[in-house]
Amino acid sequence: MSGQSSIIIEAKNVDFLYSGEWETVTPAVSGISFTVRQGEYVALVGPNGSGKTTLLKLFNALLIPSAGEVLVKGISTVNEGMLPEIRRSCGMIFQNPDNQLVATTVEEDIAFGLENLALPSEEIKKRVLEAAATLGLEKLLKHPPHLLSGGEKQRVAIAGVLVMEPDCILMDEPTAMLDPAGRHAVLEAVQQLHRERGIAVVHVTHFPEEAAGADRVAVLSEGRLVVDGSPEDVMTGLPLLHDLGLRGTTAVELASMLRQDGYPLPPKILHDRELVDSLCSLEQNS
Ligand SMILES: Nc1ncnc2c1ncn2[C@@H]1O[C@H](COP(=O)(O)OP(=O)(O)OP(=O)(O)O)[C@@H](O)[C@H]1O
Ligand SMILES: [Mg+2]
Repeated sequence: MSGQSSIIIEAKNVDFLYSGEWETVTPAVSGISFTVRQGEYVALVGPNGSGKTTLLKLFNALLIPSAGEVLVKGISTVNEGMLPEIRRSCGMIFQNPDNQLVATTVEEDIAFGLENLALPSEEIKKRVLEAAATLGLEKLLKHPPHLLSGGEKQRVAIAGVLVMEPDCILMDEPTAMLDPAGRHAVLEAVQQLHRERGIAVVHVTHFPEEAAGADRVAVLSEGRLVVDGSPEDVMTGLPLLHDLGLRGTTAVELASMLRQDGYPLPPKILHDRELVDSLCSLEQNS
């Protein structure tokens, strides 16, 4: 993304400490400065407890920084009067689709956030039908959401965010509970929205292959941002990833083993295709 694109989310030196009964001694996130620009697809990775969910909730004003500031399109999240606009601009998709579906039919569920925007009912209907078509949900509009598959439920949740015409979609391990076909359908839908409508995405994931497909990968460890760079740089940096208990993509891990066994593979192999092509060209040149 060019440096000229407008900034959607800006975290400035943000700390967050959970307080109350479960008060933690160390902050859940600490000293985070981070920017998400219009149209960017950012993957957020890190071990369990490293602060990923906390950071997403700070971006969406579900949590307010203990120190520092989060700005969404220039508006600080401490600004309570602007919460509806902040949440419209940055919609959130959670790991468990059951926790975010609220209505009795898919149609009502997709329209739920729109009801508070005081739009004419024709406009609501139009947006719901468009979002349902985009996410392949037309045939399910009259169904009760709790009877859908996990992947279908996640697509309903995404449609509910899409009708709000967001600038950014924040996703917290949206494919963690899905089978490979459900994962593929959800990711394909989000990538399409990103490509065709320029919606920015912040995607928390434990799947290296998902992170490898982003424009940028940010790594959290113990509440701190330890690296923020291209997937080619971050996801091939095995010593750091392994230190944190994370892994590279299958291609990165295999390429590393093959290099140790003496195969002169080029650096920064990230995707399966690149590994296969590199091995074939070694074979042809031998
Ligand atoms: N509601 C809470 N009250 C107190 N502490 C919390 C709360 N939620 C999270 N924490 C703590 O904050 C830290 C960061 O948690 P967070 O859920 O943001 O991590 P995460 O990176 O999303 O982990 P995971 O990969 O397991 O989802 C952890 O130490 C966690 O124990
Ligand atoms: Mg989490």
